[in-house]
Amino acid sequence: MGVSKEKHSFEYEEYDSIEDLPLSDALLVKEARKATKLAYAPYSNFLVGAYAELNSGKFAAGSNQENASYPVGICAERVLLASVAQLFPNEPIKTIAISYHNLNGTSNVPLSPCGMCRQALQEYESRVNQPIRLLLCGMEGKVLVIKQSSLLLPFSFNGDALK
Ligand code: THU
Repeated sequence: MGVSKEKHSFEYEEYDSIEDLPLSDALLVKEARKATKLAYAPYSNFLVGAYAELNSGKFAAGSNQENASYPVGICAERVLLASVAQLFPNEPIKTIAISYHNLNGTSNVPLSPCGMCRQALQEYESRVNQPIRLLLCGMEGKVLVIKQSSLLLPFSFNGDALK
């Protein structure tokens, strides 16, 4: 038969709270939560913060920046990636913690990065040839640890297709 069923899955870790995380990760989560304070999100009231640790031991933060013309707004993750690319050229990113503060509701379910940001994270990984670990959370509750951001984007479109 010329057909087969395929399956895709990946493993990740789920911590009940920030207290269960290794200290170095807990620090990144705290900083991502702090970075939500710099978000400009008057339209959605959904404040997102991202905080990266680079191989070199340096750190960088990002937050979402919205616009009255909605599509002009940028997610926290892509603000962060652009700022790392500009300030620390070609430096691999070890880990990014991402959190959010929902002013209209609760912030206790781990944030799931949008598709456009998954694509941008994947590009950064392949650009510097190193996986980016993700810590996904809210202002409280569970923290998910994913060892490579591209795991969140199976069947992705990438530069290989353009060769
Ligand atoms: N947002 C992010 O910054 N990151 C995500 O991964 C999901 C969504 C922002 C975009 C917009 O400013 C607000 O959250 C609501 O969608």
